[in-house]
Amino acid sequence: MKILLTGASGLVGAAFAEAAHRRGHTVVGLVGRSELKIPGLAERRSADLTTPDAVSLIALEIFPDAIVNCAAVAEPAACDADPARAQALNVALPETLARLAHHLSARLVHLSSEQVFDGTSAPYSVGAPVKPVNLYGRQKVESERRVHAAAAAFAVTLRAPLLTGNSLGGARSLHERLFADWAAGRVPKLYRDEIRQPCTAGNLAEAMVELCERPEQCGVFHWAGAEALSRVELARRIRAHFKLSETAAPIIEISRADDPQAAARRPADLTLELKPMAGIMKTPIETFDAQLDQLVVPPPCREWFFKV
Ligand SMILES: NC(=O)c1ccc[n+]([C@@H]2O[C@H](COP(=O)([O-])OP(=O)(O)OC[C@H]3O[C@@H](n4cnc5c(N)ncnc54)[C@H](OP(=O)(O)O)[C@@H]3O)[C@@H](O)[C@H]2O)c1
Repeated sequence: MKILLTGASGLVGAAFAEAAHRRGHTVVGLVGRSELKIPGLAERRSADLTTPDAVSLIALEIFPDAIVNCAAVAEPAACDADPARAQALNVALPETLARLAHHLSARLVHLSSEQVFDGTSAPYSVGAPVKPVNLYGRQKVESERRVHAAAAAFAVTLRAPLLTGNSLGGARSLHERLFADWAAGRVPKLYRDEIRQPCTAGNLAEAMVELCERPEQCGVFHWAGAEALSRVELARRIRAHFKLSETAAPIIEISRADDPQAAARRPADLTLELKPMAGIMKTPIETFDAQLDQLVVPPPCREWFFKV
């Protein structure tokens, strides 16, 4: 299958390129500014995807069997910092890709987020009412609506959780950020009452490859790991896995009540119900231990790690 992949340099995009290549697919990857090598790509192109014409011209030239959208402004703070850019990438781009998918009769796999929910009434089923508490979540809701309006018969959207795994640059995923703080002598402040249900970017990518191959699955679904844990528990498990001491890798535990204004823009509990996807898919749902086993010491922090 020929797959056009946006965001090929990102945490999920790079994992998707490798997973799709392993399964024998030909992946043409679009990157923005990254110059990092991306294993698994048959071809790499640079394009500014804030301009809809850029991706349309490439898609019409490539004529893919599937389009996989991993490009985004993927963090709430970054959306707040530049709402217009975030709107272009998080809403306008997926809608353009959906129109192209419809036009080309191509499969479309899009990514949304757990942050479409407000975190007050977990666990969330796929049909639970969405109620985002930040701009990122609102843009993801809008992207879902527009994607499935434009390409109902071709599109599948996975709402993804907080992601673990190893990124290309070693600075993007959950454990990589903790390591960056510890290596720089910063003490991360982590919520004991904020619950997330992570999976690795690699596991999410495997599910996305499977969905490219199973075009009968259309609509919006959830994908996440097997366990819902607090931010504090996640950091403790990561610290223990790498045999780091509390002195070398300290954390400060905080609670949502400490700063209600900040908490109002952060969903408390984003536990997701994985039905019906968990019963349909061959890709397994990962335990947190299975995720930990895949993590490597982030390259930018290796020197610090071997010192402590
Ligand atoms: N990471 C998470 O924990 C998480 C959780 C839930 C859902 N998601 C969703 O999963 C998807 C993938 O997220 P991610 O974490 O892999 O994102 P990421 O690591 O931040 O990567 C974003 C990608 O978008 C590309 N991009 C950004 N601006 C661009 C532009 N103007 N033109 C072309 N490409 C551009 C980047 O390219 P360059 O770097 O080359 O510029 C990069 O490849 C997103 O939809 C995100 O919302 C992520």
